[in-house]
Amino acid sequence: MRIGVLTSGGDCPGLNAVIRSVVHRAVTGYRDSVVGIQDGYRGLLEGEVRPLGLADVHGILGRGGTVLGSARVEPARVREAVERSAELASGLGIDALIAIGGDGTLTAAHLFSQAGLPVVGVPKTIDNDVEGTDATFGHDTAVSVGTEAVDRLKTTAESHQRVMVVELMGRHTGWIALHAGMAGGAHGIVIPERPFDMEEVCRLIDARFARGKKFTVLAVAEGATPAPGTMEFRHGGIDVYGHQRFGGIGHRLAAEVERWLGKEARPVVLGHVQRGGAPTALDRVLATRFGWHAVEAAHAGVFGHFTALRRTRIELLPLAEMVGRLRTVPPDQWAEARVVL
Ligand code: F6P
Repeated sequence: MRIGVLTSGGDCPGLNAVIRSVVHRAVTGYRDSVVGIQDGYRGLLEGEVRPLGLADVHGILGRGGTVLGSARVEPARVREAVERSAELASGLGIDALIAIGGDGTLTAAHLFSQAGLPVVGVPKTIDNDVEGTDATFGHDTAVSVGTEAVDRLKTTAESHQRVMVVELMGRHTGWIALHAGMAGGAHGIVIPERPFDMEEVCRLIDARFARGKKFTVLAVAEGATPAPGTMEFRHGGIDVYGHQRFGGIGHRLAAEVERWLGKEARPVVLGHVQRGGAPTALDRVLATRFGWHAVEAAHAGVFGHFTALRRTRIELLPLAEMVGRLRTVPPDQWAEARVVL
């Protein structure tokens, strides 16, 4: 069998571990040949591929980013690729395509599959928001980075009796803010699933200072939004890839805290630091397992599916089951993270 593999969308720690696992399982387990498609769907459209052998994946297990490159692709180009999918696959001479990506990539993979391309999806995203899988690799690494930030911000906040607002990634779901906030012991966590009331946030911070506490750290997801009828705030517009732009809520919250409470507040936007660098052990293991099972799926002919962690097992779920759906933070998990400011 000849297997094509691509990574698409925003990168995340663990992508190289999947690529390595795919190559190892395919080459040593089945004597397959594997080709790496450069820069995601762009390389598929433009036929930019290279052979991937065991030597090509040597030493990449713990390396961040993706050796195949990644790119966001405009929806119109994806539609073009879907229309030409049979021609593209035969041009590359592949019998199976393993597409590693987040909701956008897997939605495109579903369209390719419907158009007849033999695709297996592998979910990735630091946001941890792909429906159907209990976790995505990359998330644990991002949470580790976020936790370290909260830990570090606490000591400087205490020295200066400040409020520190750390903005973490999470466009529509607050998993990173929730987990990094819990692990770091942030005093307040603000996530998109629970629109916030600025007045209430300030009341809680004020009450904390009134109890003699010297500082406060808030963990805020970039997609956090004020409750309707409270503070006015607009996130950015839609970019050329059809994604809403975020960025700014951390600065706004810090400014409001200063305005309402007269306390010094500082915003810290962690941004892409959360996506860079070496994956944690947990992410390497999950990524390796996903890669192994993606090759098994290709050999079993289970196309149009994606690898999903279900409790402790990896299962194959139809791509159709995740399209248009997001795994959000459920109310009970949010309640577990609520601490008294
Ligand atoms: O979806 C993953 C993610 O890391 C989001 O958390 C973040 O908003 C977005 O990607 C950033 O995308 P870009 O790299 O295009 O700025």
